[in-house]
Amino acid sequence: MSELFDKIVSLCKQRGIIFQSSEIYGGLSATYDYGPLGVELKRNVKEHWWQSMVYQNGDIEGLDAAILMHPKTWEASGHTEAFNDPLIDDKASGNRYRADELIEDHIRGLREEGEEEQAADVHERLVEALNAGDDMPEALHAIIMEEEIRAPDSGAFDWTEVRQFNLMFETHMGPLKEEGSKLFLRPETAQGIFVNFRNVQEPTRQHVPFGIAQIGKAFRNEIVARQFVFRMREFEQMEMQYFVKPGTQDEHFERWKAERMEWHKSLGIDPDNLRYHEHEQLSHYADQAYDIQYNFPIGWKELEGIHSRTDFDLQRHAEYSGKNLTYYDPFEQEKYIPYVVETSVGLDRTVLMLLCDAYYEEEVRGDTRSVLRFHPEIAPIRAAIFPLVKKEGLPEIAHEIENDLRKHFNVKYDERGSMGKRYRRMDEAGTPFCITVDFDTKEDNTVTVRDRDSMEQDRVAIDQLATYIFDKSRN
Ligand code: GAP
Repeated sequence: MSELFDKIVSLCKQRGIIFQSSEIYGGLSATYDYGPLGVELKRNVKEHWWQSMVYQNGDIEGLDAAILMHPKTWEASGHTEAFNDPLIDDKASGNRYRADELIEDHIRGLREEGEEEQAADVHERLVEALNAGDDMPEALHAIIMEEEIRAPDSGAFDWTEVRQFNLMFETHMGPLKEEGSKLFLRPETAQGIFVNFRNVQEPTRQHVPFGIAQIGKAFRNEIVARQFVFRMREFEQMEMQYFVKPGTQDEHFERWKAERMEWHKSLGIDPDNLRYHEHEQLSHYADQAYDIQYNFPIGWKELEGIHSRTDFDLQRHAEYSGKNLTYYDPFEQEKYIPYVVETSVGLDRTVLMLLCDAYYEEEVRGDTRSVLRFHPEIAPIRAAIFPLVKKEGLPEIAHEIENDLRKHFNVKYDERGSMGKRYRRMDEAGTPFCITVDFDTKEDNTVTVRDRDSMEQDRVAIDQLATYIFDKSRN
């Protein structure tokens, strides 16, 4: 991986942002736990998304559907049959890879070596192979053999066949592990929205076009899982399904494609690190699909998918459940099964993007300062409060300020170590404002507020602190 990526992973562990799940048992691969700072960051992102989807739009309703769903859901959605990744094993090391990703890495390598023509040719063959339906595994295998792609870890050229591998996790309901009791952990939250289309539309009296938004866990038994929280086996999605009249999907698609890009920018992300990427291989349900990609230290990668899903899902659920999912449009007096435009973003990938975009190092008086420059409204701790010394009444005043500011946002009191060390801890946590109570405070009821990024200090009256921080947070 990259040096920057390694630094971020290690800062996450040291600062209690994100660490491996079940670490004391050696860890469970591709599953991660969020510590005290990580959980705040994640909650702030969820809150920001929910605000922008549900509270800012009168035509979007919220939902929290169960992770376990009737097994027929996954037959209807196509996941039982088609939610597969093509895997290939290196016989020498036993390591497992995704065949399509091996080829993509090979193409990237060719480009880096200036072999543009060959890269374009392999790329074209890859797209053809991915669209080859049942012949996809053989077609991918053929490219790997023809291009003599070697295993990244062992360097060997001794491959198995390419096999399709279903990504859904199985579990069983009830005491007996018989075939009839088999369930799946949901691999996406979207299906909980589709099967509840009527349950939401009828009581809310929403009319098409309208949307349903949901945040929740999803599970995928990923083949390759070596990229920190970029690809996990248990992760969280924030999805919104917007139901539209057939024939109008293109205009809604364009609107949501643009709005979602703006949302990422509103998190304070550098626009140069964001771009659209059009899908070359469409999923079984989509008639148009774009990703929003972020320039992670491991390369440009998918952050969010915006898909025009047609009426595939509602049609299939109507067919498999025997229920009528037709919508009656009272204005135009027509009946139809709505089309769906979906926006689907990974919460963990958003957190990873925020960490990568915010991480910054600079030299200050011969020392290296590491800072997470989060947008103040996203930062895990909004303000830290320090008494200059642990005596002469300064801690008491600092605690009063702490208790007052706690009513508004998450704050941290810290009296341990030198001022320099306290600032450094807060810089690494991404805390935008550090408040110091000093001897002058006792005279004039003012404190020093130090800005994380410029390190400049303002003198602010204690009774103006909350307003000052709110104002500065919006800038
Ligand atoms: N309902 C559509 C859907 O699930 P997707 O492109 O498969 O589409 C949407 O997933 C988003 O979920 C991705 O853009 C990514 O951010 C996130 N995601 C998917 N698999 C993930 C994984 N294994 N780990 C972390 N995030 C993942």
